Amino acid sequence: MPELLSIKNLEVSLKNPTNDKRGKVLRGISLSLGEGQRVALVGESGCGKSMTALSILNLLPQPPMEVTGGTIHFKDKDIHRFTREEWEAIRGKDIGIVFQDPITSLNPVFTVGVQIEETLRKHLNSSETEVRQKTLNLLAEVGLPDPKRVIGQYPHQLSGGMCQRVMIAMAIACGPTLLIADEPTTALDVTVQAQILELVFKLTQQNKMAVLLITHDLRIVKGHADRVVILYAGEVMEEGTPEDIFVHAQHPYTEGLLASMPQFEQKGKELVSIGGVVPSPFEDLPACVFANRCPKVKDKCRTEKPEFVLNKTGHGVRCFYPSEK
Ligand SMILES: Nc1ncnc2c1ncn2[C@@H]1O[C@H](COP(=O)(O)OP(=O)(O)OP(=O)(O)O)[C@@H](O)[C@H]1O
Ligand code: SF4
Ligand SMILES: [Mg+2]
Repeated sequence: MPELLSIKNLEVSLKNPTNDKRGKVLRGISLSLGEGQRVALVGESGCGKSMTALSILNLLPQPPMEVTGGTIHFKDKDIHRFTREEWEAIRGKDIGIVFQDPITSLNPVFTVGVQIEETLRKHLNSSETEVRQKTLNLLAEVGLPDPKRVIGQYPHQLSGGMCQRVMIAMAIACGPTLLIADEPTTALDVTVQAQILELVFKLTQQNKMAVLLITHDLRIVKGHADRVVILYAGEVMEEGTPEDIFVHAQHPYTEGLLASMPQFEQKGKELVSIGGVVPSPFEDLPACVFANRCPKVKDKCRTEKPEFVLNKTGHGVRCFYPSEK
């Protein structure tokens, strides 16, 4: 499968404006997506998922954030060499984006039709009649009932789920090769979440789009990803196929995430969860960044850094004492 996106050893740091101290947000992340591949990036709140997405889009809040190392290639081109014009052409056309909060991501003063049409006009050379027709088609494609009515409505007249469908219509309007969906369902009701995910995956499959699905919820990854990357404190802890992660997890952090997933069989039982929280970028961490929360920690973990070790089948883990399953 030809490579579409390749991130190597990406480092992002953060400056504290009060004392100029630098913190580490991403500590050397590597991750790649092939054409049409579905990759899920999973980890708790604050582990660096959104900053990874914003780095790919060259939209990091700079300052206080800064890329301090590594490379990102999109279609074999180093994205840091793109000009402003190239970025304008790529964002929204080659790379579609869906963020967490559909209501605030849409502009409240314009109808949804105007917002989708603007995206189409910006990137495609189409007549006004074509733009209108394409917008109606997109609204139908994302499952909105009565596109002719919805096209003239404002975001506040639609539900959260409908707004997210509009956001998805905008993200796929120009036929991107990569869709980045950063917690696309977190703000929605559970039943709507499932419908939106189904829609994202139906559309990406139909249009052969690659998708980087970002989530803190491992449950939604099941059945929706070809590869899963587990992130903690700005480092990749484990990576593999869904089977590697759900059935043969080797890293204590992945095991903790799995144990905190409510299982059908566990109904009524207390949920097991990982004690503690993700450290702040300014915290001084032990050599293994998970050591302070790890149930298997040994002295070595605090002084020596575990390497990310990839086996022959592409299952990778960063731990001195991985589980064998
Ligand atoms: N604009 C900002 N200024 C300063 N620090 C920030 C900013 N945005 C994020 N951070 C910090 O950077 C770290 C990584 O944040 P990031 O938003 O990537 O986390 P995340 O994994 O997306 O979390 P969530 O699941 O809550 O969205 C966190 O410690 C966060 O507090
Ligand atoms: S290296 Fe040690 S502290 Fe880190 S995850 Fe493995 S066992 Fe836990
Ligand atoms: Mg985020």
